[in-house]
Amino acid sequence: MTLAEKLGQLTMTAAGYAVTGPVIAGDSTAAIRAGTIGNLLNLFGADRVHELQRIAVEESRLGIPLLFALDVIHGHRTLFPIPLAEAALFDPAAWALSASEAAAEAAADGIAMTFAPMLDVSRDPRWGRSAEGPGEDPWLGAQVAQAKVRGFQGPELAAAQALAAVAKHYCAYGPVTAGRDYASVDISERSVREVHLPPFAAAVRAGAAAVMPAFTDLAGIPLTAHRELLQDVLRGELGFDGVIVSDYNAIAELIRHGVAADLPQAAALALNAGVDIDMMANAYRAGLPVSLERGLVQPAQIDRAVHRVLTLKQRLGLFDHPYQRGAVREAPATLAARRQLARTVAAQSLVLLRNERSVLPLADSPRCLAVIGPLADAAAEMRGPWAMTPDDGTQVTVLAGLRSALPATEVLHVAGVEIDGADRSGIAAAVRAVAQAEIIVLCLGEAAGMSGEAASRAHLDLPGQQRALAQAVIDAARERRTPVVAILFSGRPLVVPWLAEQADAVLAAWFPGSEAGHAIADVLSGRVSPCGRTPMAWPRAVGQIPVYFAQRPGGRPADSNNHFTSRYLDVPNEPLFAFGHGLSYGRFRLSNLQVSPRQLNERERLEVRVDVLNEGSRTARETVFLFTHDVLASVSRPLLELKGFAAIELQPGERGTVTLSVPATELRFLGLDLRPVFEAGEIEILVGPSADRRHLLAQTIELIDAG
Ligand code: BGC
Repeated sequence: MTLAEKLGQLTMTAAGYAVTGPVIAGDSTAAIRAGTIGNLLNLFGADRVHELQRIAVEESRLGIPLLFALDVIHGHRTLFPIPLAEAALFDPAAWALSASEAAAEAAADGIAMTFAPMLDVSRDPRWGRSAEGPGEDPWLGAQVAQAKVRGFQGPELAAAQALAAVAKHYCAYGPVTAGRDYASVDISERSVREVHLPPFAAAVRAGAAAVMPAFTDLAGIPLTAHRELLQDVLRGELGFDGVIVSDYNAIAELIRHGVAADLPQAAALALNAGVDIDMMANAYRAGLPVSLERGLVQPAQIDRAVHRVLTLKQRLGLFDHPYQRGAVREAPATLAARRQLARTVAAQSLVLLRNERSVLPLADSPRCLAVIGPLADAAAEMRGPWAMTPDDGTQVTVLAGLRSALPATEVLHVAGVEIDGADRSGIAAAVRAVAQAEIIVLCLGEAAGMSGEAASRAHLDLPGQQRALAQAVIDAARERRTPVVAILFSGRPLVVPWLAEQADAVLAAWFPGSEAGHAIADVLSGRVSPCGRTPMAWPRAVGQIPVYFAQRPGGRPADSNNHFTSRYLDVPNEPLFAFGHGLSYGRFRLSNLQVSPRQLNERERLEVRVDVLNEGSRTARETVFLFTHDVLASVSRPLLELKGFAAIELQPGERGTVTLSVPATELRFLGLDLRPVFEAGEIEILVGPSADRRHLLAQTIELIDAG
């Protein structure tokens, strides 16, 4: 291979499609023919993909197939709920299944690689990218990572339905300063290793084909140039041997970071750190020849990167079958079944935050129901951030979903206000609708574009005039004793304590995807009992952020009788809704916690059993969480650490037992030297419905040396 051909394999550029044929941003199909572009992003559709693939395979000197990549983040054409919402399922099988369905659908469009899963632990809802990830907990993030990688990649990466997974954004992108996207990160190595690495380690163990470094810097070193984290930790400690693909233009941005003077230096920093593919910076093609001349990089490094890229193409089956992805059209029955799955997953991702006097589920066929608010009939918003395919208009709105689920009910609709505008003139019409209805469904929240990349917010209340609308509707409804059910759409936990106090029910809907309205109607009507549990705490006030369950005790834990303790003067320390909170239409009581053995050594397993009784009048699913607390250790440990979860479905009056089994090695932590240790001593085992300590059953056991 010539140097230009090698650098082509290390280059990924964006492609679009014009009426006249495929076009490549700032480039041309001539580059594919010349072998100087090896990878493309953002082009999909079997015909288009095959057209360019044919040029690469048949008209370039070496005939190396192109790799087509796309952000298939929460579905492709069929949209599943956003990743944060899917995390709320606490169901690894469902996580894997939606990923494999998304992979099949995108592969049928010619795609071979997805820039997913996004595995950034987020404890800061101001950060818009919280929407893309698994929430606040590293152990949960690791479970999501494994399931998603397995789902996207399937048992055989060379299969026509499989996509290469890209674990991103490595690593510690979540704690950006003040929740502002792309801002600097400066956290301890312990925090990196305990909180931010575990999901990536799990992705690597599950065989993730590729990893993408984060845009951000960690204590001054941009991840795109972070030798220690990419080479020593990712490739060395974690044993990752796949491809490292830069984020969009990230190599050129090393100049903006202030660590590279020009493109050749930026390219050298990235290559030296181990980045194989340059996405959109043109830094490798334009810069590396100069870096070589300057002696900043060696030819062998380029060869190693090319080898990794070609190995990935081979593993994907691209050399043997360059046109297999997209060769067969998916059958209508397959698409219909996928749509059904999207409905099921969406319904299960909804988190019922509050349900006073059991206003939900709705009574059978209410006479008249008013659906009020700017998100009631907002089809495009249901897609959430990161929907890459054009809007096909098939998303089901809440209004449409309720009308089809309740054919005998008169369903009124008033938007009232815009999602984010100053106009309050529609509020009067909303109040008039309240007078006619037996029940109000208030659809509030963010626009899809208010979360995701470059979408941080400093205020986490409802945007625009929505609070004024909601207050007017609630006041009018209260006078008539009409119940109000609020449905919140958002890419993050919002800060709406005033709403949670006043609405009779609050359902966090996140962005549910294509089947939004049907899924919401399934839950409101009682066809499905809600079972989502929030993967991130909902704060009472923005000033509490970050508020998460795995905090350390500190030397002066909060004590309301003692002024000099760690607390606020104006709000409680606890979030409004803790991690794991979520109601169902059942009513569960946990009892009889059994933990064995009472003395546990590192080679054994911890076995935990707890009885669950459904005292409610409806069949429902309960998720039970297992936490530990290492009471006394050489390093102060978090008050709660998640180590397991399991779900059980029970009929009214039915009792069952949930069993959780945890290898004792999971009870190790990083000692004073940041190496895993299993320290003898007491450890609390806590089991219950959320990370709210008041509702956890607890027992203490002893960790002992294996002897
Ligand atoms: C995002 C990545 C994404 C890439 C390609 C970037 O701006 O940070 O998450 O995969 O664009 O679309």
